[in-house]
Amino acid sequence: MDLQAITPGMYKDELQHRRDLCVAGAWLYRRGFVVATDGNLSLRLDEDRVLTSPTGMSKGMLDPADLVVTDLQGRQLEGRLGPSSELAMHLTIYERRPDVRAICHAHPPVATGYAAAGKTLDKALLAECILDLECIPVAPYATPGTPDLASTLEPLIDRYNAILLANHGVVTFGPDLLTAFFRMETTEHIARVNLVTELLGRQVLLTNRDVERLLASRNRSREASSDSGHARTAESAAADDTARNRRDLEVLLAEALRNLNDHH
Ligand code: 13P
Repeated sequence: MDLQAITPGMYKDELQHRRDLCVAGAWLYRRGFVVATDGNLSLRLDEDRVLTSPTGMSKGMLDPADLVVTDLQGRQLEGRLGPSSELAMHLTIYERRPDVRAICHAHPPVATGYAAAGKTLDKALLAECILDLECIPVAPYATPGTPDLASTLEPLIDRYNAILLANHGVVTFGPDLLTAFFRMETTEHIARVNLVTELLGRQVLLTNRDVERLLASRNRSREASSDSGHARTAESAAADDTARNRRDLEVLLAEALRNLNDHH
């Protein structure tokens, strides 16, 4: 299984999806984002079916035949092993976010440390992080593997693509498995950089103006790529713009508040 296997945007049959999920599991394991049998992954095979990692196995050593297919209500359709114990969390995310086609749940040590400290990753420190994830909130603690975990996440799912789970780990999601995995990497990266600045005792945050410029350039490049893209309707463009403007405004407001607090 080569690492190029996960390429979004091309037609994939179920076997290719199964291989991709195993590759992403191996990446999570090799990067130290999961240990032992931690973590889980899933993707949407189609409108009615989800492919998920099995429960209780190392996600670094999965075979395509180990994976489990369920429907959107969590009923098992295929697989000799049981589905992930966090399937309810995955299904809640798919239900609330039709744009999400893949989910990664892992325990990367630094981001999980922030989750255990109840500390949101919301500092305007790194341009790349603001561009993709803006702010990474912490969902309150809930027992892993119970429906409570999905409930604590619910208020955050609509607004964020990466969420810290208090005293537990991180969940990231996106339109394809590669994006969901990259968001896990970005979350751990921003947590590490945050930690280093905290150890150094100094954080130089980007200014409101810097953030404004970043978001404006991101919006311009998104518009350019969607112009050359395929089936983006006027309705979906308007809905995207409304959601984007709202999120941009929230980031700017949060930044302005932080600056105010820093100066008092
Ligand atoms: P599963 O092996 O059941 O997916 O559980 C791993 C985990 O990390 C639970 O939070």
